[in-house]
Amino acid sequence: MGLINIADREIKLIMVGGKGGVGKTTCASSIALKFASLGRRVLLISSDPTPSLSDIFEINIGDRETKILDSLELYGFEISSEIVLKRWKERFGPEIYEVISSFAKIDYDFVDYVGTAPGIEEEYMLNFIIELVENEKYDLVVWDIAPAGHTLRLLQLPHLFLKHMEAATKFYMNMYDYLEKIKGAVTLKGSKRTLLEIISSWESLSEKIVEFIRDKDRTKYIIVTIPEALGVKLTDRIIEEFKENNLSVENIIINHVVRSADCPFHEKRMAMQQFYIEMMQKRYSHINLVTLYLSADEIKGIERIRQTGEALFSL
Ligand SMILES: Nc1ncnc2c1ncn2[C@@H]1O[C@H](COP(=O)(O)OP(=O)(O)OP(=O)(O)O)[C@@H](O)[C@H]1O
Ligand SMILES: [Mg+2]
Repeated sequence: MGLINIADREIKLIMVGGKGGVGKTTCASSIALKFASLGRRVLLISSDPTPSLSDIFEINIGDRETKILDSLELYGFEISSEIVLKRWKERFGPEIYEVISSFAKIDYDFVDYVGTAPGIEEEYMLNFIIELVENEKYDLVVWDIAPAGHTLRLLQLPHLFLKHMEAATKFYMNMYDYLEKIKGAVTLKGSKRTLLEIISSWESLSEKIVEFIRDKDRTKYIIVTIPEALGVKLTDRIIEEFKENNLSVENIIINHVVRSADCPFHEKRMAMQQFYIEMMQKRYSHINLVTLYLSADEIKGIERIRQTGEALFSL
């Protein structure tokens, strides 16, 4: 069992996923603090609907980029669905409207309708994060992904991304052949760009996202789990989905491990955990497994988060 080994300065995004309640927010916060203490400018994002970062850091973070500590370049952002959707609309709404309204008479409200498509949130999050790191606003973004289900959906995202854009331009889809012939020639009303240019820009954006999340030098995935049957089962599923999408998990944190037992209750628990730890060691022999011991205290406040970060890293 090792320690997290991500020392590379090229890393731009660390995504922390796993099933509910296993310690994702705790681990994401500890990882973010650790990198900030190494001198990097770090943004910790949580897309959890409950304000979990504020709870763990014991300060009010909220729906905007907020500096967590005076002494370090560590920022937090509890991004809400409303903000994500609002920014998505600002970014893509005008283009979607431009394309569709050039063929059909529609209200701008149509953009709201497109924004209700499932998966839009994760799609936009990645686009948003990639923009943040490309603009060098932050050296690293650590993303605490809310429930496990989202992690899985996220992987199909670049694929979905394009689909949504295309769904938004249903007309374009239906008349694809016809448009293929004319789109280079159509300049949209009030725009300097042709239809082809806008559609190509969506395509290259989704390609850029795929490239980014598949680039092991820039993106790392950490799965947090617990040494119990359900933890193993869900981890299996997540890893399988990653494989199907040509992505690889390099680190798994096994959390809540009992360090020593001085009573029959804990002896029993340790034996149970050991069984699943060995199972994971066998199954995930190609992945770095990191133990995080269960502490008597809950992990809250800077000092405990810092200690947890130290326990996780070999840096
Ligand atoms: N190693 C540990 N030792 C002691 N307490 C821990 C440990 N890891 C996590 N906890 C505690 O477990 C609780 C849940 O952790 P956390 O909020 O990080 O989980 P989560 O996976 O983010 O949950 P959710 O899926 O609800 O977002 C917290 O109260 C946290 O302090
Ligand atoms: Mg959480």
